[in-house]
Amino acid sequence: MTDQACDGMIIHPCVDADAVAQFAATAVIEAAGAAIAARGVFHWALAGGTTPKRCYELLREADIDWPKVHIWFGDERCLPVGDAERNDLMADKALLNHVPIPPMQIHRMDAELGPEVAAKQYEALLAAVPVMDLILLGMGEDGHTASLFPGNPALEDQRLAVPVYNSPKPPLERVSMGYAVLNAARRCLIMVAGAGKADAISRIQNGTRLPVARVQGCEWLIDREAAGNRIV
Ligand code: 6PG
Repeated sequence: MTDQACDGMIIHPCVDADAVAQFAATAVIEAAGAAIAARGVFHWALAGGTTPKRCYELLREADIDWPKVHIWFGDERCLPVGDAERNDLMADKALLNHVPIPPMQIHRMDAELGPEVAAKQYEALLAAVPVMDLILLGMGEDGHTASLFPGNPALEDQRLAVPVYNSPKPPLERVSMGYAVLNAARRCLIMVAGAGKADAISRIQNGTRLPVARVQGCEWLIDREAAGNRIV
């Protein structure tokens, strides 16, 4: 399968979820090597949810100069530290507990403090970093990404980190990177796998500007199930 440009979307068709994970892991290794060679540091924002888990597991053995990596989070659920549903816990178990990144370089969202306080604190951290070298994102079945959901006021919040209320995907309260950060990344990959995502992909390709489609210049890793029959 060849890479495709479809209505401005840069699409890397993948045969299945594992191929999505493999492609993303390779991209992380490439981006880390380039960033560290150029600037001595790699700023990498992780996606939450379940799709990225395999990618993170594949990176446990990767040849990356981990002490020069700074980890950020695209979003976090307002749950207690250590809660099984937190995005940072998934990342810890899949990767961060297995590689030597200095804890001070893992920039967690203090989402347990609530959306407004956590967003303010994270915005102050993000303000010190000119740009993310790589951002990984997922996409929900409604076309959300990070914690930017259709029709939610957070979509229009211009801050670097935004509070999210009334999320349709539990929990109700979250913190998310805003488009100001997502759209400034040197490279951004959106990982989409599974038949449940096919409707949102179809709507985006038909021109519906779902929240994920407002991330500019990103590359789409889409497996066959999510692509339906539109991408060979
Ligand atoms: C979250 C994620 C969210 C996720 C999508 C896709 O907190 O739930 O940040 O944006 O990436 O909902 O989730 P799956 O990968 O589990 O389908």
